[in-house]
Amino acid sequence: MEQKSIGIIMNGVTGRMGYRQHLVRSILAIRDQGGVELSDGSRVQVDPVLVGRSAAKLQEIADQHGVQRWTTDLDEALANTGDTIYFDAQLTTVREDSILRAIAAGKNIYTEKPIAVSVEGSLRLARAAAQAGVKNGVVHDKLYLPGLLKLKRLIDSGFFGRILSVRGEFGYWVFEGDWQQAQRPSWNYRAQDGGGITTDMFCHWNYVLENLFGQVEAVTAKTVTHIPERWDEHGKPYPATADDAAYGIFELAGGIIAQLNSSWTVRVHRDELVEFQVDGTEGSAVAGLHQCVAQHRTATPKPVWNPDLVETEPFRDQWLPVPDNGEFANGFKAQWEQFIRFVENDGEHPYDFLAGARGVRLAEAGLASSAQGRRIELKALKP
Ligand SMILES: NC(=O)c1ccc[n+]([C@@H]2O[C@H](COP(=O)([O-])OP(=O)(O)OC[C@H]3O[C@@H](n4cnc5c(N)ncnc54)[C@H](O)[C@@H]3O)[C@@H](O)[C@H]2O)c1
Repeated sequence: MEQKSIGIIMNGVTGRMGYRQHLVRSILAIRDQGGVELSDGSRVQVDPVLVGRSAAKLQEIADQHGVQRWTTDLDEALANTGDTIYFDAQLTTVREDSILRAIAAGKNIYTEKPIAVSVEGSLRLARAAAQAGVKNGVVHDKLYLPGLLKLKRLIDSGFFGRILSVRGEFGYWVFEGDWQQAQRPSWNYRAQDGGGITTDMFCHWNYVLENLFGQVEAVTAKTVTHIPERWDEHGKPYPATADDAAYGIFELAGGIIAQLNSSWTVRVHRDELVEFQVDGTEGSAVAGLHQCVAQHRTATPKPVWNPDLVETEPFRDQWLPVPDNGEFANGFKAQWEQFIRFVENDGEHPYDFLAGARGVRLAEAGLASSAQGRRIELKALKP
C-alpha cells in the first residue's frame, strides 16, 4: 500500500518554540516514528518545508535533521498545492499577515498563540478561515501536560464534588541579561514587539480554565513591570516596556474563582514551574507540569491556628500522588497528531481560531483591567 504523506509549511522554525517543540520534538519525532496512525490503521507521513528569513540558519537546520525542503520565500512555499498545512511559530506581531496569506492559498492552519496581536485581528483570522473553509487550530499545549491530564481525570471522576476555587502560580526568575544572559528572548519585554507576560500567559490561562473548569466570565488584574531595564541578546541595555508580572482574578461560569499569578520576576519555591491548587467540597488537588497529588475530605487534617507552637503536621506528606496509569507523550507532539488526524477527517480538534481569539481577548481584558483599575466582564465572542 502506498504511504500517504502530508506537506507541512513550517514558518518560524529558527525560533525557540518553532525549533525545539514543533520541529524537533513534534514533526521530526512523528517522521521518525513513521507518521501519524489513523483509526483505520493506515499512517500519514509528515513532509515539512522549513520557512524563515535566514537561508544560512534554515540550511543548517535542514542539514542537521535530514529535512529536504526549505525556503526564505513564503509565497513560493504557499504556491505548492501539495503542502496542505501552514504552521506559524513566528514572532506574534507578524503572524496575522502570514496566516491571512496562507488562508488565501487554501491551506489548513495550525499556529502558536497568541494568534494575533489584537482581538480584532484574531476575529479577522477566524472569519477568513471560515469563509475559505479551511481547518484551523491553535496550540493548547498545557492541556496535554501529564499533570493537567491527571487533574482532568480527577475532575471527570467527580472527585472534587463542587469545585470552589483554583489557585495557580506560574513563574521563575528571568535574568535581566547584564551579568547573566536572559533565558527568554528580549522581545518578550518590549510591548512594541508583542511582548508582556499578560499577552503571553493569559492566552494559556483562558484555554486551561475553559477546558478544565468553565468559561471565564470576568477578570480583575494588576499587571506590572517590576524590572524597568534589561539587556538584549547583544548585551545592549533597553527599556522594558512590557509587563513582567500579572496578578489576576478570574471569575468562571458556575461560580468558580481562579486566582493566577504569572511572573518572570519570582524565585521558585515550588516543585514545578507552574502549579495549580484546586479545592472542592469533596477533595483538593495540586497539579504541576508532571505531578498531581490529591487529598480527599476523608483524609483532610484539622489544623488549628496557634502561632505559639512550631508546626508539627507534615502537610505535604498528607497528599496522595495520582498515578500516571499510562504513558504521556510530549504535549506539543500529541496535539500535532490530533490536528493532523483532524485534517485527515479522522477525529476532532476543538481548539480553533475562535478559542485562540478568546485567549487574546482575555489578555486584552487583563491589560485593560489593570490600566483602568476595574473588573472587566467578558461577553460571548462571535466571529
Ligand atoms: N505555546 C507555548 O508554550 C509558547 C511558549 C513560548 C512562545 N510561544 C509563542 O511562540 C512564538 C515564538 O516565540 P519564541 O519564544 O519561539 O520566540 P523566538 O524569538 O525564539 O522566535 C521567533 C521566530 O520568529 C522569527 N522572527 C522574528 N522576527 C521576525 C520578523 N520580523 N518577521 C518574521 N519572522 C520573525 C524568528 O526568526 C524566529 O524564527 C510567539 O508567538 C510566542 O507567543 C508559545
